[in-house]
Amino acid sequence: MSVWADVLAYCLPNRPDSLFLFSYSTTKNRCRNGLHFAWSADGSRWTKIGNEYGFLTCDYGSWSTQKRMIDPVLERNADGIWFCSWLVNENDKIIARTQSLDLLLWKPQEFYKESVIMRPDRSARRDSIYFSNGEKAIGQIHKVESRLVDNLIGRYDQKAYRSQLDAEQMKDDALRFKGLLPVRTQLTVQPGPIKRISKDLIGIFFEDINYGADGGLYAELIQNRDFEYNLHDKLGTDPDWNAMHSWKVKGDGLTFTVDTVQPIHIHNSHYALLNVKTPGSALVNEGWDGIALQKGEKYDFSLFGKRTTGTSSAVSIILRDNSGSVVASSLISIPSGSWKKVKSTMIASSTVQAATLEIIPSGTGGYAFDMVSLFPHNTFKNRPNGLRKDLAQTLADLHPRFVRFPGGCVAHGDGLGNIYRWKNTIGPLESRVPQRNLWGYHQTAGLGYYEFFQFCEDIGAKPLPVLAAGVPCQNSQDGGAGQQCGIPMNEMKAYIQEILDLIEWANGDPKTSYWGRLRAEAGHIKPFGLELLGIGNEDLISEVFKDRFKMIYEAVHAKYPKIKIVGTVGPFYEGSDYEEGWKLATELKVPIVDEHYYNSPGWFINNRNFYDNYDRSKPHVYLGEYASHLPGRPNNIETALSCALYLTDVERNADVVEMSSYAPLFGKENHCQWRPDMIYFDNTKIKLTTDYYVQKLYGTNGGDEYVPCTWKIENENDAVSKRLGQSVIRDSHSGDVIVKLANLLPVSATTVVDLKGLVIGTKKAVLHVLKGNPTDTDAIPSESAFEVGNKFDYEMPPYSFSVIRIKGNLLMDKILNR
Ligand code: AHR
Repeated sequence: MSVWADVLAYCLPNRPDSLFLFSYSTTKNRCRNGLHFAWSADGSRWTKIGNEYGFLTCDYGSWSTQKRMIDPVLERNADGIWFCSWLVNENDKIIARTQSLDLLLWKPQEFYKESVIMRPDRSARRDSIYFSNGEKAIGQIHKVESRLVDNLIGRYDQKAYRSQLDAEQMKDDALRFKGLLPVRTQLTVQPGPIKRISKDLIGIFFEDINYGADGGLYAELIQNRDFEYNLHDKLGTDPDWNAMHSWKVKGDGLTFTVDTVQPIHIHNSHYALLNVKTPGSALVNEGWDGIALQKGEKYDFSLFGKRTTGTSSAVSIILRDNSGSVVASSLISIPSGSWKKVKSTMIASSTVQAATLEIIPSGTGGYAFDMVSLFPHNTFKNRPNGLRKDLAQTLADLHPRFVRFPGGCVAHGDGLGNIYRWKNTIGPLESRVPQRNLWGYHQTAGLGYYEFFQFCEDIGAKPLPVLAAGVPCQNSQDGGAGQQCGIPMNEMKAYIQEILDLIEWANGDPKTSYWGRLRAEAGHIKPFGLELLGIGNEDLISEVFKDRFKMIYEAVHAKYPKIKIVGTVGPFYEGSDYEEGWKLATELKVPIVDEHYYNSPGWFINNRNFYDNYDRSKPHVYLGEYASHLPGRPNNIETALSCALYLTDVERNADVVEMSSYAPLFGKENHCQWRPDMIYFDNTKIKLTTDYYVQKLYGTNGGDEYVPCTWKIENENDAVSKRLGQSVIRDSHSGDVIVKLANLLPVSATTVVDLKGLVIGTKKAVLHVLKGNPTDTDAIPSESAFEVGNKFDYEMPPYSFSVIRIKGNLLMDKILNR
């Protein structure tokens, strides 16, 4: 009998109450495809469910090297609970284990040393089966109720259907919408109660990924200024990534070594030691892809130095272009004996894309240098140790209501030793603790908590620091066997104190509180007014996590009840971390949780009702990381419009979704670990993406009242209607009404906007339109004056996002009878 005969038998009304279920994995994709199932009516002819669909995949270790499932054993106990365990790799002797009631939703995975004995019994029988094509599989045969098989098949079918929707792309629109004529729609304001929505909906997510901080927003021009680069930053994969990285010697009159005897600070233990035999040679820094200089601009140079031998204190500092010409220079004096900070200011005589910095001692003998720094004098808001003005301005232009920092995964780190500790990032630069950046480079901590808070204040955004929940990244690979673990319980009290200290540092009285005084001494007397605090970042919601999160949450809540804690619900919009995270947050009454999802444009188009049914009495949502991902990871009109469309739905739900931030923010050209990003840059240029413009249109056109409307689309095709979006909001502060219209169709869509019941104060409106072909990467929104009446027509161009801002619609309150 063929497999089809089996399938037919399965569908018949008289099919058996029980069936055989076979659980197995394969060695394909380096054992990463997870747990598969096959079913059989008679135990001999087997049909794969979903053709090797992974019903359970391994969470262990880093994405790049692990996530493997070897030899899974599945067992059901007397209470009907399924337990599954497997080896995570060939070397670590670690067993992963999880459980499920239905084989569909699995509990967070736990990882044990192989020696620990627990269910399921790994010495259980291994069965072999053969598929009709002769292929052999090894696993376990289980006798199960046929309903269970139904559910597995049903889940797979549902997944397959959803994947098909998720895969919808604009490249197929010509076929999908063949013959489609321009669409007509009517958008009519419904007099009635206005919904209050969050005025903090659009913010930014800042993480030091893709050289976003060092070499990026942080304006320092010298790379490896502290001589603290080390092999471990790149987990030993690059022998040149050491304390001498970015430095070289020019000439043969001196030797350059790195020493650690009597450093300027214990946290900064390496420094450069030059032994000069013949004066004239230089220690040269190449900056980050060179040092960009602007003609006429001032540059602040500084270093810590001391002479260990020799008599000549004079040292020349020269900035030179690649033809060898001097662009700026200064002379500094290095004392003998102990470390001294020496400064000078230089003015660039020409604009140079990639200069180098030379340190040239004038005499013979020993010179020690550390914290060699060159800053443009002209930083954002002229802050010392500040930010690159042009990049910071692009962020200010987004008009973000909050800034989340320092990550992302940088916040919870790769392994316990890599957790970002805020105290390591404040105080004099030479005393800060640099560390390995988990994205594979070096983090100076020069852009630390003080600078983050100052930046937030400078752009009028609320600070949202995110601290680890006592656990590192669930994809950790560094330290022991990696993976999530927890700060030992006997250290948790101190860790919690560290978190409480942050709140005191940010908000404490400058005279009466210890940490408030430190903030004031650092230059900020007035409290920063911290309101939000993130605990955790898309963590595995394991018992280890839950215990620690609860302790932190309760301690912070007890001492600072007004601080709004942002919890975390895993890296995806579904699955065990999402379910367990929501459960925990609901139990603890966490005010708001951080959701993350990076999905395809098709997902955004097909999940527009994602928040419509969220329970408003539960924690609210911070959509903390999201972006639209296409194969090849571009930012183009397709990615931008899918986010713009989805944000119309988020705005409708902005009573429950209080905050959102596109991620990641920055990508330095040629140094990206992750794409797409919102803003690309090199040392002199900035490329604002189509996704940036969508964020800016939302950020600069926010409001706090959602105006209910009806939206009639004169086309019954679901594929058409789900590609059209609208949102009408009002900013009660200015009285402006803002109409947002997204059209993801290849044809125009004319809409009759009927502001029924609203008395328009003025006919003046401003129209912004972002449009283009789906693959366009360079589209920029246009801005023009636009005239409106109580009823007006607007033609949405094909593939466009339009924002119509109607000025000062002051009479609206009365009309809507609030
Ligand atoms: O945004 C990039 C990364 O994506 C973040 O660090 C992490 O939280 C997420 O997985």
